[in-house]
Amino acid sequence: MLPRGLNMRSTAKKPIISKEQPGNPCQELLLALSDRETTLRILADDDPELRGLLLDKAEVCRLEVMGKQVYPRALIEFSNQCALNCFYCGLRRDNSDLLRYHLSVDEIVELALQAWDMGLHSLALQSGEVHDENEVPFVIEVVKRVKQATSRDGTSGMGITLSIGELGFDAYRALFEAGAHRYLLRIETSDPDLFRRIHPPSQSYERRLECLSYLKEIGYQVGTGVMVGLPGQSYEQLASDLEFFRAWDIDMLGMGPYITHPGTPLSRSRLPIIAHPFATTLKMIALARLTMPEINIVCSTALQTINPAGLSLGIKAGANVVMPVMTPDEHRREYSLYAHKKYSSLDRLVKNIADLGYEVALDSWGDSRHYFKRQGLAYPVQ
Ligand code: 5AD
Ligand code: SF4
Repeated sequence: MLPRGLNMRSTAKKPIISKEQPGNPCQELLLALSDRETTLRILADDDPELRGLLLDKAEVCRLEVMGKQVYPRALIEFSNQCALNCFYCGLRRDNSDLLRYHLSVDEIVELALQAWDMGLHSLALQSGEVHDENEVPFVIEVVKRVKQATSRDGTSGMGITLSIGELGFDAYRALFEAGAHRYLLRIETSDPDLFRRIHPPSQSYERRLECLSYLKEIGYQVGTGVMVGLPGQSYEQLASDLEFFRAWDIDMLGMGPYITHPGTPLSRSRLPIIAHPFATTLKMIALARLTMPEINIVCSTALQTINPAGLSLGIKAGANVVMPVMTPDEHRREYSLYAHKKYSSLDRLVKNIADLGYEVALDSWGDSRHYFKRQGLAYPVQ
């Protein structure tokens, strides 16, 4: 028998999701969404009513499991230097139209303290990939200094997320031991062929998987994610992305629409792009929330950049993390992963999120519940 609230009859005219209000959409829809065909139909169907129903169900599920809290991460983009050459990204090594910058340890600690004083007790340190032998010791120093400066009276201080790319096992472990406890490394696409089409041959899919497994083994809360609407990307591949997140049992997810950057090779691609990358990203978030109810999902800057409703609809779809930016004004333009990147201040986010009936959870780490569950641990008071 089908779960209540679901109508999966196979004729195209019959609804995939019914309006009928089920008891618990997480459980009700989970069963059906484990069926790939249903996920595919939801992704490929551009009926706004279907999307609305899906988002409604994701919202009910999210409120039930996670409540109204939205966890903020103070984002410091501390360097735009990058040794890699991803075909889609404005920070790629061969983009010479960019002033490269790198903040100092003191500058980063100062920004982290400002964030702390604003009630932002979780920090995300992000940069391009630097393969300089001094870079890992540099980040270790930053992590230790931020921890020291914020851990008063025996408290655990700032929660630190890193997003600094592919490194070796020992480097990841040293950063973990220094005090970082969450790591974001997007797979970009779970499809190995598409991965190869958007990266140069020197960057390998297998290497990225290896890095993700190192991070899990070391004990990080591990986040990954994909871009939605890449040239040549299909709904089948997006459905596989969702399966990939489940198979890897990830704790955190960041997904955003692909946005063309004119200075990149991928901007010249003629391959077709799915019809509605924004709406499809929202559906991906909603499907992720319904099938992985306890993970943390970020409302990405890219989602907020391509549509003014990105924040409100991203939260409605199930995102529970936002990233107010602490990167100094003079460097923001230079951290141009894609064109016209939008920045939201903490004040604006707090107000907009309150207007939606949600609440920015200040003074907390906002860890992934899923992580504690998979470790067999009780979720600590945040
Ligand atoms: N459009 C959207 N997201 C992008 N990223 C990089 N370039 C783009 C782009 N053109 C994302 C990638 C990367 C993260 C740092 O930024 O997913 O992992
Ligand atoms: Fe560098 Fe990351 Fe951009 Fe790739 S996506 S070029 S690794 S900053």
